[in-house]
Amino acid sequence: MENMWLECIRCHKKFPWNTVIYTCDQCGALLDVKYRFEEPNPESWRGKPFSVWRYENFLPKVREKVSLNEGGTSLYKCDRLAEKFGIKNLWIKNEGENPTGSFKDRGMTVGVSLAKELGSRTVACASTGNTSASLAAYAAKAGLKCVVMIPSGKIALGKLAQAIMYGAIVLAVEGNFDQALNLVEQSSKRLGLYILNSLNPYRLEGQKTIAYEVIEQLGEPPDAIILPVGNAGNISAIHKGITEWKQLGLIEQTPRLIGIQAEGAAPIAHAYKKKKREVTFIENPETLATAIRIGKPVNWEKALRAIYDTNGAAETVTDEQILQAQKLLARTEGIFVEPASAASIAGLTKILDAGLIDKDERIVCITTGHGLKDPDTPIRTCEKPIQVKPDPEIIEKVLQ
Ligand code: F0G
Repeated sequence: MENMWLECIRCHKKFPWNTVIYTCDQCGALLDVKYRFEEPNPESWRGKPFSVWRYENFLPKVREKVSLNEGGTSLYKCDRLAEKFGIKNLWIKNEGENPTGSFKDRGMTVGVSLAKELGSRTVACASTGNTSASLAAYAAKAGLKCVVMIPSGKIALGKLAQAIMYGAIVLAVEGNFDQALNLVEQSSKRLGLYILNSLNPYRLEGQKTIAYEVIEQLGEPPDAIILPVGNAGNISAIHKGITEWKQLGLIEQTPRLIGIQAEGAAPIAHAYKKKKREVTFIENPETLATAIRIGKPVNWEKALRAIYDTNGAAETVTDEQILQAQKLLARTEGIFVEPASAASIAGLTKILDAGLIDKDERIVCITTGHGLKDPDTPIRTCEKPIQVKPDPEIIEKVLQ
């Protein structure tokens, strides 16, 4: 694959595509996958199924695709929700519709295909839940061994159930996500595990297809894309996708990328607010949106690049605002998402209030994971079922 290589995002050192490496051996920064693209011809993919591999011209070439038909998620025009915010053009890209219920599947189809291509036997990740569920499923499909390290007691029940059911070796680490990721990195060096966290640049290649789908579904790029940010892989991936299509002349304008973090786990939003190019990590991140309970986002440098390059922004939201947004979305649009995903909706109010988006702009919020992943939250925060005797008179009384 002489048309593809890895390149350091900071010092631009190049590495052959098949080097198993996650950070630059010269300066320590993350890597990007780079391509010498052929002249793009949109007709070559327009007839293909609406899914990640529709965009294979922009993805690594692999002999065998490990796929569960990921991508091709709905983009809902949300007029009832838009009205609540006093805006006109709001869409939700619902990534909870992916095979394991989150956007991670887009990354894993490419990442696990690469793992096979490179001859890896065991894949591994640290995870706040969704990455482990997704990797476990794709590893099963590929016939690879899978090790996942999760912060003990801090992942949503549904996600844990998935990782166990798909047959991964699940290690509950006594520590937070950042410590688990550190452990995966150290173990991978010792044991030769192939890491599929978002520091793996191939995983982000799959995730950039969110941008391509949104552009095709709308017929043009939106003005802004708002999404929750944890380890900051997704915002970086979407930025890469958009940048590549812009450079190839397939789109003219680029949407502004706006990342939302939970107040107790917001190193990137804090850096943005101080207009800094460096991030101060948080030792003990806290939020009930466990998916984004991350204090040391590995992709911080790519994420700041995404935000500053697109004239985007970053904002924080409280847990209370996240829970309110989760309910509002479910009850106005019939879309049930997990708390982390609701951060993008919660952030919308603050972004509008701060004047960072005009009310007539076309806004896409990305909801990243399905609500059923975390059944405990609604059971705790919503109305309890009303206990009744099987008697129509009682029903009448109750419903009055
Ligand atoms: N939303 C959900 C539902 C997530 O699971 C994650 C990350 C994010 C948003 C943030 O995405 O890390 O690319 O900025 N979950 C990871 C995991 C960390 O392990 O499942 P990001």
